[in-house]
Amino acid sequence: MKRAIYPGSFDPVTFGHLDIIRRSAGLCDHLIVAVLNNNNKTPLFSVDERVEMLKEATKDLANVEVASFSGLLVDFAKKNDVGVIIRGLRAVTDYEYELAMSQTNRVANPNIDTIFLNTSLEYAYLSSSIVREMAMYGGDITKFVPNCVVDKVYKKFKK
Ligand code: PNS
Repeated sequence: MKRAIYPGSFDPVTFGHLDIIRRSAGLCDHLIVAVLNNNNKTPLFSVDERVEMLKEATKDLANVEVASFSGLLVDFAKKNDVGVIIRGLRAVTDYEYELAMSQTNRVANPNIDTIFLNTSLEYAYLSSSIVREMAMYGGDITKFVPNCVVDKVYKKFKK
């Protein structure tokens, strides 16, 4: 596996995402962590903020690049000469949506495959929406996101 993409919303990046990023970076020569820029949902963080937080959180990983993309993931992958998409699976409930997405991507571009990594058990419950919800009500999020992200999340809810 030479070049791979790990796409997502990362609003914000969690330890669950970082677990997948670290393990994926060990499986390929070059990993692009790609932040979606055209999400229907109104994000908590701008795409630039999300890219910056990911860059900070992955700065020790030499073969990881962080970028943003708009439009179709398969088009971004093709433009960047990437044939593998990586997605994390936390539980069986993720699978139905992920399967449909990977099948759609394969119909759109049969040269691009999706590989699923199981999220490590310790992060199986974790999602960006849980982090946002906890922070909104003043809960402790230090077990969910890296230090460089913690205060940025709280700040969003203090406004
Ligand atoms: O972290 P998320 O929100 O689960 O990530 C979803 C993401 C960004 C991987 C997905 O929504 C995506 O690839 N969007 C870009 C548009 C696209 O190519 N969709 C695939 C066809 S369903």
